[in-house]
Amino acid sequence: MDEEFIIEEGERLAQAENLPEEVVFENNLRPQKLADFVGQEQIKQNLDISMQAAKKRGDSLEHVLLYGNPGLGKTTLAHIIGKEMNANVKITAGPALEKVGDLAAILSNLENGEILFIDEIHRLNKTIEEVLYPALEDYSLDIIIGSGPAARTIRMPLNRFTLIGATTKMSMISGPLRDRFGHAYHLNFYEEKDIEQILHRSAKILNVPIDEKSLKIVSARARRTPRIANRLLKRVRDFAEVKNDGKLDEKITNEALSMLSIDEYGLDEVDRRLLETLIEKFNGGPVGLNTLAAAISEEMDSIENIYEPYLLQTGFLERTPRGRKATPLAYKHLGFEEPKNNTLI
Ligand SMILES: Nc1ncnc2c1ncn2[C@@H]1O[C@H](COP(=O)(O)OP(=O)(O)OP(=O)(O)O)[C@@H](O)[C@H]1O
Ligand SMILES: [Mg+2]
Repeated sequence: MDEEFIIEEGERLAQAENLPEEVVFENNLRPQKLADFVGQEQIKQNLDISMQAAKKRGDSLEHVLLYGNPGLGKTTLAHIIGKEMNANVKITAGPALEKVGDLAAILSNLENGEILFIDEIHRLNKTIEEVLYPALEDYSLDIIIGSGPAARTIRMPLNRFTLIGATTKMSMISGPLRDRFGHAYHLNFYEEKDIEQILHRSAKILNVPIDEKSLKIVSARARRTPRIANRLLKRVRDFAEVKNDGKLDEKITNEALSMLSIDEYGLDEVDRRLLETLIEKFNGGPVGLNTLAAAISEEMDSIENIYEPYLLQTGFLERTPRGRKATPLAYKHLGFEEPKNNTLI
C-alpha cells in the first residue's frame, strides 16, 4: 500500500470536523452566493426574504443563529450573508473571547451594518454572554466603571450590527441568548442529490474529470455532509493521479474508497466497531452511552457528537431512554443474524 494513502492514526476520513490542513482547500470550494449554496432550500428562501427586506429598509439584518452538525455549511452561510448584504464580516469564536474587554472592544469597533460572526458560540462564558444581551437587544454596551460602592454603570451606544452565531450544540445555548436571535436556522444532513450537485461543482473547480457513476459512489459514502464529500473527492483524485494517470472511473473510485476503509453507507472503522460491539458484547443493546464509550475506548462526547448523529439519521442506531440499540439494519449490514427475541421491528 502506498504510504500516502495510509490513514494516519487519529485521522478519521469520515469525521465531519475539519482537519487543520483542509482550511485552504475548503475556502476554495466555498460557494460565494446564496444561489450557489446547494440544498437547504427552506433556509435559503427564508434568508433571502429577510435579507431583501432588510436591504429595502436600509437596515441591518436581524441576528442569525445557525446550528447543525460539523461540515454542513454554517461558516459558508455566514460568509454568503456578508456578501449578499454587502457587509464586512468580522470573525471570532467563543473560546477566543476570554475577557469581557475582548468582546467589548470588538463590539464597539463594529461599523454600521457590519457582521460579527461568532463561531462555537455555545462556548462563550457566562459573563461574556451577559455583555452580549444589551448589545443584541438595544445595540448598547453596559460598562461598569470603578469598583465597590463607587462603581457605576454607563451605557455606551453601538452601531447597528448583525450577529451571526454558529453552533453544533444547540442544547448548550442558554434561553436568554437564543431568544435574542431574530432567526435560528437548523442545517440538516443533505439529500443525496444535493451531495451529488456539490461534488459536481467541486469537481469542476478542482478540474477533476469524474464520471457520473463514480460521482454517485463518492456521494453515497459522504455521510450526507458536504465537507466529507469534498474530502473524499480530493482523496479519490489523489489516488487516481498516482494509480491511474488521473483518470477517475468506477473501478479506481471503489479501489480508493475501500483503501480508505469507508463502506458503501459511509461508515468507517469506528462506526462499524461501535455497532459490532453493541451487537456482540451487549446483545444489540440497550446500553448506556458511558458503557459503550468505555467498551470501544472512545470518548462519550465524540460518540454523541461525531458518530451517533449519522448512525441515528441513517437508521443503524436507535436511542432509547434505556440506552443505545442496534437496529435490524445494523445487524444486516454487518452480517449478523438478528436474535429471535429482538423486539425492535
Ligand atoms: N450547501 C453547500 N453547498 C456547497 N458547498 C457546501 C455547502 N455547505 C458546505 N459546503 C462545503 O463544505 C465545506 C464545509 O462547510 P462549512 O465550513 O461551512 O461547515 P460548518 O458547518 O461551518 O462546519 P463546522 O461546524 O466544523 O465549523 C466548505 O468547504 C463548503 O465548501
Ligand atoms: Mg464552521
